[in-house]
Amino acid sequence: MANSQRKILVTSALPYANGPIHLGHMLEYIQTDIWSRFQKMRGHECHYICADDAHGTPIMLKAQQLGMAPEEMIAKVNVEHQQDFADFKVAFDNYHSTHSDENRALASEIYLKLRDGGYIKSKTISQLFDPEKSMFLPDRFVKGTCPKCKSEDQYGDNCDSCGATYSPTELINPRSAVSGATPVMKDTEHFFFDLPAFEGMLKEWTRSGALQSEMANKLDEWFEQGLQQWDITRDAPYFGFEIPDAPGKYFYVWLDAPIGYMGSFKNFCDKRGNINFDEFWAKDSSAEVYHFIGKDIVYFHSLFWPAMLHGAGYRQPSSVYAHGYVTVNGAKMSKSKGTFIKARTYLDHLDPEYLRYYYAAKLSARIDDLDLNLEDFAQRVNSDLVGKLVNLASRTAGFITKRFDGKLATVADKSLIDSFLAKQDLIAELFETREYGKAMREIMALADIANGFVADAAPWQLVKQDDKQEEAHQVCSNALNLFRILVTYLKPVLPRLAKDVEAFFKMELTWDGLSADLSGHEIAEFKPMMQRVELDKVAAMVEASKENLQATAEPVKAGPLADDPISPTISYEDFAKIDLRVALIKKAEAVPEADKLLKLQLDIGGEVRQVFAGIKSAYNPEDLEGKLTVMVANLAPRKMRFGMSEGMVLAAGPGGKDLFVLEPHEGAKPGMRVK
Ligand code: 2FM
Ligand code: ZN
Repeated sequence: MANSQRKILVTSALPYANGPIHLGHMLEYIQTDIWSRFQKMRGHECHYICADDAHGTPIMLKAQQLGMAPEEMIAKVNVEHQQDFADFKVAFDNYHSTHSDENRALASEIYLKLRDGGYIKSKTISQLFDPEKSMFLPDRFVKGTCPKCKSEDQYGDNCDSCGATYSPTELINPRSAVSGATPVMKDTEHFFFDLPAFEGMLKEWTRSGALQSEMANKLDEWFEQGLQQWDITRDAPYFGFEIPDAPGKYFYVWLDAPIGYMGSFKNFCDKRGNINFDEFWAKDSSAEVYHFIGKDIVYFHSLFWPAMLHGAGYRQPSSVYAHGYVTVNGAKMSKSKGTFIKARTYLDHLDPEYLRYYYAAKLSARIDDLDLNLEDFAQRVNSDLVGKLVNLASRTAGFITKRFDGKLATVADKSLIDSFLAKQDLIAELFETREYGKAMREIMALADIANGFVADAAPWQLVKQDDKQEEAHQVCSNALNLFRILVTYLKPVLPRLAKDVEAFFKMELTWDGLSADLSGHEIAEFKPMMQRVELDKVAAMVEASKENLQATAEPVKAGPLADDPISPTISYEDFAKIDLRVALIKKAEAVPEADKLLKLQLDIGGEVRQVFAGIKSAYNPEDLEGKLTVMVANLAPRKMRFGMSEGMVLAAGPGGKDLFVLEPHEGAKPGMRVK
């Protein structure tokens, strides 16, 4: 090994414990896993650490909705997350939870050190409070009418319709998304972390050259805008850690989340016994610490986190590496289009190594978004991995087994092998600097050369000629040497394929062993190693990802109340307010700008209403005309992008193609009240 052994701690962001892992998340875990596997392959001491991010209001409310204790819900989600990661071959050295003893101890210790250092300030603030639920409301849990464009039903922090950002107190007609009650303002004492006190240290850290240039620029912008005190307190009820010197007050989830990196590492050190926590985290540590994250959480990782570490006497991260978002087929992942694909749904249909390769092939060290174009995905995997890589062995291995006793020849002309080996430093450098796309292109360019060599030499013809046996043995052995080098380069990306290739070569593939001499080496019989991506499986995955559409014009939002069936109970009085009427669908048309909406004209016995309904997946517009449905007739009209919606239609069924309205012969008449 040319360079000396490094001690590296690497993390991916901790996923929230209230939802499944999806292909957007997987980009980061695959990116980090490739890097960690690469470092280990190079002989470094590298520990890849992660955990579930288990605290906060959304997690508390989600557990309530499910009728579970939060501890029970996060334990269940933890098992599911770990299974998804394991099946994608993401090889964490430790996977823990932020709701752990280690994390509680570290969060308290860090907080107390910050307090004693004078970095915690107390201030009384006024916040929106839900009088029915007796809880303060985070911005996302207040809804109301946008103060700028007057769109209804917007969240308390920004408007989906016009993009305005505001404070929840500015909303017109605010109401609690938890209970529906009108929130009131209430005073509460909160603790703030004095981020501005760390400006000098943060500027120095930024300029140390370890950050991506886009990130350093973003930080400069934030410095220019001025750093603010950071509110680290939440009032009960809250699922998290109680603040040691303030009963009834809790640490905001984002305080103990990054400490969760340390908490999980502490848990790992205690389990392993031979790894020293302080060696990685002490102020004077010579180990390296890297956080891989998404671009949405740069602020937390590049300002709050290094400042907290510094204030509490720990080292700073060596670097924070941000990546962009995943789009699917050029657009934001969408539940109605079936492109919001859960890790588990993918695994039910496709080989995880296809995705590992595709993401690697498209990743760079920059913060750009990455498009998972499903056609390109199938085409690229089939052409590169099946057509170029595995084909190299499948075209040559059989001859070695059948004609040459399963043994490789001493390759007489090593020029190709040497040229492949000559790329090892470049390829290592590209992995090291997270330029995986460039690394994949280098490797596939070599695969093209190897295939060209085999095609020109045509061993399938040589073997038929008695005097060409030695030449055939040479060509096939040469090709398999090249194949082994390529798969060694790809091992961090394709660990399962590499394992099969190791069984085939009856040897471990290591970076140090790249130039091993395989003269006379016996190989196993070749078995198929990777199937082509079948487009019907991709289509089946998309179909299985199409989620129930609510039969309403509501956009599907990720949020506490979005994905679960039973909403909080309402009183009989609330129910009695809903006026349900049978409505005749007189006219139905598609809305070209909205892929799940139909525009309906509904006759409710003497009055015709226009309603937008999300039932396009189940019906062609013309098939609906003449049918009956039930509508909420007294819903306040709502201005949508395409016009007014004057009510809401109800349809029954799981969604997709199965959403049922009423047939005329079922005897209902327009205008009838539904009881
Ligand atoms: O944004 C998120 O999904 C957070 N759960 C990430 C936390 S990363 C770390 F700081 F814990
Ligand atoms: Zn607006």
